[in-house]
Amino acid sequence: MKRVILFFTLHSSLFVPPKWATGVFILFTFLLAACDSGDIEEQSYSTTEGGYTVKLTATLTGIDSWDNKYAVSLAGFTTGDNYAQVVRIIPNTTPDSTRVEVVFSNIGDNINTVELAITNRLRERIITLARVNLDDYDNKKDTIYMDLGVTDVSRFGALQLGLFNMACIQCHGGNGGAGAAGLNLTEGRSFANLVNVSSTRKEGMMRVVGGNARESLLHQMMAEGGENMLHVNHTEILSNQFRENLNEVRQLIDEWIERIEN
Ligand code: HEC
Repeated sequence: MKRVILFFTLHSSLFVPPKWATGVFILFTFLLAACDSGDIEEQSYSTTEGGYTVKLTATLTGIDSWDNKYAVSLAGFTTGDNYAQVVRIIPNTTPDSTRVEVVFSNIGDNINTVELAITNRLRERIITLARVNLDDYDNKKDTIYMDLGVTDVSRFGALQLGLFNMACIQCHGGNGGAGAAGLNLTEGRSFANLVNVSSTRKEGMMRVVGGNARESLLHQMMAEGGENMLHVNHTEILSNQFRENLNEVRQLIDEWIERIEN
Protein backbone atom coordinates (compact mmCIF):
# COMPACT_ATOMS: atom_id res chain seq x y z
CA MET A 1 0.00 0.00 0.00
CA LYS A 2 1.23 3.46 -0.84
CA ARG A 3 1.96 5.79 1.95
CA VAL A 4 1.13 9.43 1.79
CA ILE A 5 2.70 11.77 4.26
CA LEU A 6 1.11 15.12 4.65
CA PHE A 7 2.93 17.96 6.22
CA PHE A 8 0.71 20.84 7.01
CA THR A 9 1.57 24.17 8.53
CA LEU A 10 -0.46 27.28 9.03
CA HIS A 11 1.09 30.64 9.61
CA SER A 12 -1.55 32.93 10.92
CA SER A 13 -1.07 36.57 11.59
CA LEU A 14 -2.89 37.88 14.64
CA PHE A 15 -5.94 39.82 13.46
CA VAL A 16 -4.79 42.23 10.79
CA PRO A 17 -1.47 43.37 12.12
CA PRO A 18 -0.01 46.79 11.57
CA LYS A 19 2.97 46.76 9.24
CA TRP A 20 5.52 46.70 12.00
CA ALA A 21 3.97 43.61 13.48
CA THR A 22 3.80 41.42 10.41
CA GLY A 23 6.70 39.43 11.76
CA VAL A 24 4.57 38.19 14.62
CA PHE A 25 3.09 34.86 13.75
CA ILE A 26 1.31 32.13 15.45
CA LEU A 27 2.52 28.89 14.06
CA PHE A 28 0.34 25.83 14.09
CA THR A 29 1.90 22.70 12.88
CA PHE A 30 -0.08 19.65 12.08
CA LEU A 31 1.75 16.53 11.15
CA LEU A 32 -0.22 13.72 9.74
CA ALA A 33 0.79 10.37 8.51
CA ALA A 34 -2.04 8.92 6.53
CA CYS A 35 -3.06 5.56 5.13
CA ASP A 36 -1.17 2.58 6.44
CA SER A 37 1.46 4.44 8.37
CA GLY A 38 1.41 4.65 12.11
CA ASP A 39 4.60 6.69 12.26
CA ILE A 40 4.66 10.43 12.35
CA GLU A 41 7.71 11.85 10.70
CA GLU A 42 9.22 15.20 11.44
CA GLN A 43 10.24 16.12 7.94
CA SER A 44 8.47 15.39 4.75
CA TYR A 45 10.60 17.59 2.53
CA SER A 46 13.38 15.11 2.01
CA THR A 47 11.41 12.43 0.30
CA THR A 48 13.32 9.20 0.07
CA GLU A 49 11.55 7.08 -2.49
CA GLY A 50 9.28 7.29 -5.51
CA GLY A 51 6.33 9.56 -5.69
CA TYR A 52 5.93 13.22 -6.47
CA THR A 53 5.86 15.99 -3.91
CA VAL A 54 3.44 18.86 -4.38
CA LYS A 55 3.66 21.93 -2.22
CA LEU A 56 0.74 24.32 -2.06
CA THR A 57 1.14 27.78 -0.62
CA ALA A 58 -1.73 30.24 -0.62
CA THR A 59 -3.22 33.01 1.45
CA LEU A 60 -6.84 32.02 1.85
CA THR A 61 -9.88 34.18 2.35
CA GLY A 62 -13.49 33.12 2.73
CA ILE A 63 -12.83 29.62 4.02
CA ASP A 64 -15.13 30.22 6.98
CA SER A 65 -18.11 30.48 4.63
CA TRP A 66 -18.15 26.68 4.29
CA ASP A 67 -20.08 24.47 6.67
CA ASN A 68 -18.95 20.96 7.49
CA LYS A 69 -20.74 19.41 4.53
CA TYR A 70 -17.91 20.66 2.35
CA ALA A 71 -14.23 21.28 2.74
CA VAL A 72 -11.51 23.21 1.03
CA SER A 73 -8.86 20.60 0.45
CA LEU A 74 -5.74 19.58 -1.38
CA ALA A 75 -6.78 16.40 -3.08
CA GLY A 76 -5.26 13.81 -5.38
CA PHE A 77 -7.43 12.41 -8.16
CA THR A 78 -7.21 9.66 -10.72
CA THR A 79 -8.35 10.80 -14.17
CA GLY A 80 -12.01 9.94 -14.75
CA ASP A 81 -12.81 9.48 -11.07
CA ASN A 82 -14.67 12.23 -9.27
CA TYR A 83 -13.73 10.79 -5.88
CA ALA A 84 -10.34 11.79 -4.52
CA GLN A 85 -7.81 9.10 -3.65
CA VAL A 86 -6.21 11.25 -0.99
CA VAL A 87 -7.48 14.37 0.65
CA ARG A 88 -5.98 16.84 3.06
CA ILE A 89 -8.64 19.12 4.46
CA ILE A 90 -7.74 22.69 5.28
CA PRO A 91 -9.81 23.48 8.38
CA ASN A 92 -12.62 25.94 7.73
CA THR A 93 -11.73 27.52 11.04
CA THR A 94 -8.53 28.82 9.45
CA PRO A 95 -8.61 32.58 10.06
CA ASP A 96 -9.06 34.81 7.03
CA SER A 97 -5.88 35.88 5.25
CA THR A 98 -3.93 33.02 6.74
CA ARG A 99 -0.98 31.79 4.76
CA VAL A 100 -1.37 28.08 4.38
CA GLU A 101 1.17 25.50 3.33
CA VAL A 102 0.19 21.99 2.49
CA VAL A 103 2.70 19.40 1.34
CA PHE A 104 1.79 16.12 -0.27
CA SER A 105 4.70 13.73 -0.47
CA ASN A 106 5.23 10.30 -1.99
CA ILE A 107 2.24 10.68 -4.23
CA GLY A 108 1.45 7.34 -5.78
CA ASP A 109 1.32 6.53 -9.48
CA ASN A 110 -2.44 6.13 -9.33
CA ILE A 111 -2.82 9.89 -8.92
CA ASN A 112 -2.88 12.08 -12.03
CA THR A 113 -3.83 15.47 -10.67
CA VAL A 114 -3.40 17.28 -7.39
CA GLU A 115 -6.04 19.94 -6.91
CA LEU A 116 -7.05 22.68 -4.57
CA ALA A 117 -10.70 21.76 -4.60
CA ILE A 118 -13.96 21.96 -2.78
CA THR A 119 -14.78 18.40 -1.78
CA ASN A 120 -17.66 16.91 0.15
CA ARG A 121 -17.65 14.37 2.95
CA LEU A 122 -17.42 11.51 0.49
CA ARG A 123 -14.25 13.05 -0.96
CA GLU A 124 -16.19 13.92 -4.06
CA ARG A 125 -14.96 16.82 -6.16
CA ILE A 126 -17.40 19.72 -6.24
CA ILE A 127 -15.21 22.16 -8.12
CA THR A 128 -11.50 22.66 -8.74
CA LEU A 129 -9.87 25.99 -7.93
CA ALA A 130 -6.35 25.12 -9.09
CA ARG A 131 -4.70 21.99 -10.35
CA VAL A 132 -1.37 20.47 -11.30
CA ASN A 133 -1.28 17.65 -13.77
CA LEU A 134 1.39 15.19 -12.66
CA ASP A 135 1.62 13.72 -16.14
CA ASP A 136 3.27 17.00 -17.18
CA TYR A 137 6.22 16.32 -14.88
CA ASP A 138 8.67 13.54 -15.39
CA ASN A 139 11.18 14.07 -12.63
CA LYS A 140 9.61 12.73 -9.49
CA LYS A 141 12.42 14.11 -7.37
CA ASP A 142 11.48 17.72 -8.00
CA THR A 143 8.97 19.41 -5.77
CA ILE A 144 6.03 20.79 -7.74
CA TYR A 145 5.03 24.17 -6.41
CA MET A 146 1.47 25.43 -6.41
CA ASP A 147 2.00 29.00 -5.36
CA LEU A 148 -1.39 30.63 -5.50
CA GLY A 149 -1.05 33.91 -3.63
CA VAL A 150 -4.22 35.41 -2.21
CA THR A 151 -7.07 33.07 -3.06
CA ASP A 152 -10.76 33.59 -2.34
CA VAL A 153 -12.09 30.12 -1.56
CA SER A 154 -15.65 31.14 -0.74
CA ARG A 155 -18.47 29.75 -2.88
CA PHE A 156 -18.25 32.74 -5.16
CA GLY A 157 -14.46 32.66 -5.23
CA ALA A 158 -14.62 28.99 -6.15
CA LEU A 159 -17.03 29.77 -9.00
CA GLN A 160 -14.75 32.54 -10.25
CA LEU A 161 -11.67 30.32 -10.34
CA GLY A 162 -13.29 27.03 -11.22
CA LEU A 163 -16.11 28.10 -13.52
CA PHE A 164 -15.92 31.64 -14.92
CA ASN A 165 -12.16 31.68 -15.50
CA MET A 166 -12.23 28.22 -17.02
CA ALA A 167 -15.34 28.21 -19.18
CA CYS A 168 -16.76 31.70 -19.56
CA ILE A 169 -14.37 34.62 -19.76
CA GLN A 170 -13.07 33.70 -23.20
CA CYS A 171 -16.37 35.16 -24.41
CA HIS A 172 -17.35 37.28 -21.44
CA GLY A 173 -14.72 39.97 -20.98
CA GLY A 174 -11.47 38.03 -20.88
CA ASN A 175 -10.09 39.82 -23.94
CA GLY A 176 -10.65 43.24 -22.40
CA GLY A 177 -13.90 43.98 -24.18
CA ALA A 178 -17.35 44.40 -22.65
CA GLY A 179 -18.08 40.72 -23.08
CA ALA A 180 -20.78 38.85 -24.98
CA ALA A 181 -24.27 40.19 -24.20
CA GLY A 182 -22.58 43.00 -22.27
CA LEU A 183 -21.70 40.54 -19.52
CA ASN A 184 -18.21 40.65 -18.03
CA LEU A 185 -17.35 37.64 -15.89
CA THR A 186 -13.73 38.46 -15.11
CA GLU A 187 -12.46 38.61 -11.57
CA GLY A 188 -13.58 41.68 -9.68
CA ARG A 189 -16.39 42.40 -12.15
CA SER A 190 -18.43 39.23 -12.32
CA PHE A 191 -20.49 39.71 -9.16
CA ALA A 192 -21.62 43.23 -10.04
CA ASN A 193 -22.34 42.11 -13.61
CA LEU A 194 -24.58 39.29 -12.48
CA VAL A 195 -26.40 39.97 -9.24
CA ASN A 196 -29.70 41.82 -9.56
CA VAL A 197 -28.80 42.96 -13.07
CA SER A 198 -31.43 42.77 -15.80
CA SER A 199 -30.81 40.36 -18.63
CA THR A 200 -30.03 41.99 -21.96
CA ARG A 201 -31.44 38.93 -23.71
CA LYS A 202 -34.49 37.76 -21.78
CA GLU A 203 -36.94 40.50 -21.10
CA GLY A 204 -38.21 40.66 -17.55
CA MET A 205 -35.48 38.38 -16.21
CA MET A 206 -32.51 39.08 -14.02
CA ARG A 207 -29.18 37.42 -14.71
CA VAL A 208 -29.08 36.46 -11.04
CA VAL A 209 -31.88 37.16 -8.58
CA GLY A 210 -30.11 37.37 -5.24
CA GLY A 211 -31.54 34.70 -2.93
CA ASN A 212 -33.56 32.95 -5.63
CA ALA A 213 -31.80 30.46 -7.89
CA ARG A 214 -34.89 29.21 -9.69
CA GLU A 215 -35.84 32.63 -10.99
CA SER A 216 -32.31 33.43 -12.09
CA LEU A 217 -31.44 33.27 -15.77
CA LEU A 218 -28.01 31.90 -14.85
CA HIS A 219 -29.66 28.90 -13.21
CA GLN A 220 -32.21 28.27 -15.95
CA MET A 221 -29.84 28.56 -18.90
CA MET A 222 -27.38 26.11 -17.31
CA ALA A 223 -29.97 23.58 -16.20
CA GLU A 224 -31.24 20.65 -18.21
CA GLY A 225 -33.86 22.05 -20.54
CA GLY A 226 -32.06 25.39 -20.79
CA GLU A 227 -30.26 24.45 -23.99
CA ASN A 228 -32.30 26.72 -26.26
CA MET A 229 -32.94 29.66 -23.98
CA LEU A 230 -30.20 31.72 -25.60
CA HIS A 231 -28.57 31.69 -29.00
CA VAL A 232 -25.54 30.05 -27.44
CA ASN A 233 -26.12 26.70 -25.76
CA HIS A 234 -24.67 27.31 -22.31
CA THR A 235 -25.82 23.95 -20.96
CA GLU A 236 -23.46 22.38 -23.44
CA ILE A 237 -20.61 24.72 -22.50
CA LEU A 238 -21.07 23.61 -18.90
CA SER A 239 -21.31 19.90 -19.59
CA ASN A 240 -18.25 19.98 -21.85
CA GLN A 241 -16.20 21.61 -19.14
CA PHE A 242 -17.41 19.50 -16.23
CA ARG A 243 -17.70 15.92 -17.32
CA GLU A 244 -17.37 14.35 -13.92
CA ASN A 245 -18.90 16.99 -11.68
CA LEU A 246 -21.58 18.68 -13.77
CA ASN A 247 -24.36 18.38 -11.20
CA GLU A 248 -22.07 19.37 -8.36
CA VAL A 249 -21.18 22.59 -10.18
CA ARG A 250 -24.84 23.28 -10.91
CA GLN A 251 -25.64 22.82 -7.26
CA LEU A 252 -22.82 25.11 -6.24
CA ILE A 253 -24.16 27.85 -8.52
CA ASP A 254 -27.58 27.46 -6.93
CA GLU A 255 -26.22 27.49 -3.40
CA TRP A 256 -24.24 30.62 -4.11
CA ILE A 257 -27.34 32.37 -5.46
CA GLU A 258 -29.54 31.22 -2.57
CA ARG A 259 -27.09 32.62 -0.05
CA ILE A 260 -26.92 36.10 -1.51
CA GLU A 261 -28.54 38.48 0.94
CA ASN A 262 -30.48 41.33 -0.55
C1 HEC B 1 -18.62 30.79 -26.89
C2 HEC B 1 -18.82 32.04 -26.22
C3 HEC B 1 -19.48 31.99 -24.85
C4 HEC B 1 -19.08 31.28 -23.75
C5 HEC B 1 -17.91 30.35 -23.61
C6 HEC B 1 -20.00 31.63 -22.69
N1 HEC B 1 -20.92 32.51 -23.15
FE1 HEC B 1 -22.43 33.35 -22.08
N2 HEC B 1 -23.13 34.23 -23.74
C7 HEC B 1 -22.55 34.20 -24.97
C8 HEC B 1 -23.39 34.91 -25.92
C9 HEC B 1 -23.08 35.13 -27.39
C10 HEC B 1 -24.52 35.34 -25.21
C11 HEC B 1 -25.75 36.07 -25.78
C12 HEC B 1 -26.67 34.98 -26.30
C13 HEC B 1 -27.91 35.51 -26.99
O1 HEC B 1 -27.85 36.59 -27.58
O2 HEC B 1 -28.96 34.81 -26.95
C14 HEC B 1 -24.32 34.92 -23.83
C15 HEC B 1 -25.19 35.20 -22.81
C16 HEC B 1 -24.96 34.90 -21.48
C17 HEC B 1 -25.81 35.31 -20.39
C18 HEC B 1 -27.07 36.14 -20.49
C19 HEC B 1 -26.71 37.59 -20.39
C20 HEC B 1 -27.92 38.48 -20.45
O3 HEC B 1 -27.76 39.69 -20.22
O4 HEC B 1 -29.02 37.97 -20.72
C21 HEC B 1 -25.25 34.81 -19.24
C22 HEC B 1 -25.78 34.98 -17.84
C23 HEC B 1 -24.08 34.10 -19.64
N3 HEC B 1 -23.91 34.17 -20.99
C24 HEC B 1 -23.24 33.43 -18.74
C25 HEC B 1 -22.19 32.62 -19.14
C26 HEC B 1 -21.45 31.79 -18.25
C27 HEC B 1 -21.68 31.68 -16.75
C28 HEC B 1 -20.54 31.13 -18.99
C29 HEC B 1 -19.55 30.09 -18.55
C30 HEC B 1 -20.13 28.85 -18.05
C31 HEC B 1 -20.69 31.56 -20.36
N4 HEC B 1 -21.70 32.48 -20.41
C32 HEC B 1 -19.90 31.12 -21.40
C33 HEC B 1 -21.35 33.60 -25.29
C34 HEC B 1 -20.65 32.75 -24.45
